[in-house]
Amino acid sequence: MTISEKITKRKSVRAYLDKPVLPDDLAKIIEAGRWAPNTGPFQISVIRDHGLRQQINDRTRNAMAHSGNDFLRERAALPGYQPLYDAPVLILLSGPVEDTFSTFNTALAAENMLLKATGLGLGSCFLLSPTLTLTGKDSHDLAQAAGIPDDYTLQCAVIVGYAAAENKFTAGERTRKGSVNYVD
Ligand SMILES: Cc1cc2nc3c(=O)[nH]c(=O)nc-3n(C[C@H](O)[C@H](O)[C@H](O)COP(=O)(O)O)c2cc1C
Repeated sequence: MTISEKITKRKSVRAYLDKPVLPDDLAKIIEAGRWAPNTGPFQISVIRDHGLRQQINDRTRNAMAHSGNDFLRERAALPGYQPLYDAPVLILLSGPVEDTFSTFNTALAAENMLLKATGLGLGSCFLLSPTLTLTGKDSHDLAQAAGIPDDYTLQCAVIVGYAAAENKFTAGERTRKGSVNYVD
């Protein structure tokens, strides 16, 4: 797949098969993240452990339900809604608390990983929802279990897996977004 095809074919997948990602494919996805533009250190924590993923999923849903944000509250209340969509791999991207560039470093790494996953025939989705729970003091236990360094904070996450046919939380059609203007 060319890079242009990866860019247009990538879409947020929100239903996954109960099928593990091949270790070689996962390694390629992680490596793609490490080649992104960056201006400082960041941590890529790859969570395959079912129990930890389930805990992060459940606490994220709870945080969404109590966020005070209508959109997040409504989503969390949808029947069967799982913020991690049962994906077999959760990749957490964190950076040093004091580093103001951590958001950019991790987001760029995440996009590289999304595109690599697409090229390998895998579904993926960029997530901010786990930051609702993994950044607070109350969730220090989860952050520690995930291997996020003590002085790092979670910036974003990526899930990866084989897309399931049922895709009730994902739009079938995608549209190009973002306004464009040229100044010549
Ligand atoms: C900053 C940001 C945060 C996002 N957080 C979530 C999230 O927590 N959960 C989710 O399901 N999708 C999340 N998304 C995915 C967007 O909903 C998705 O990219 C958008 O609807 C466009 O669809 P597409 O990715 O299929 O092109 C996020 C995207 C961005 C850029």
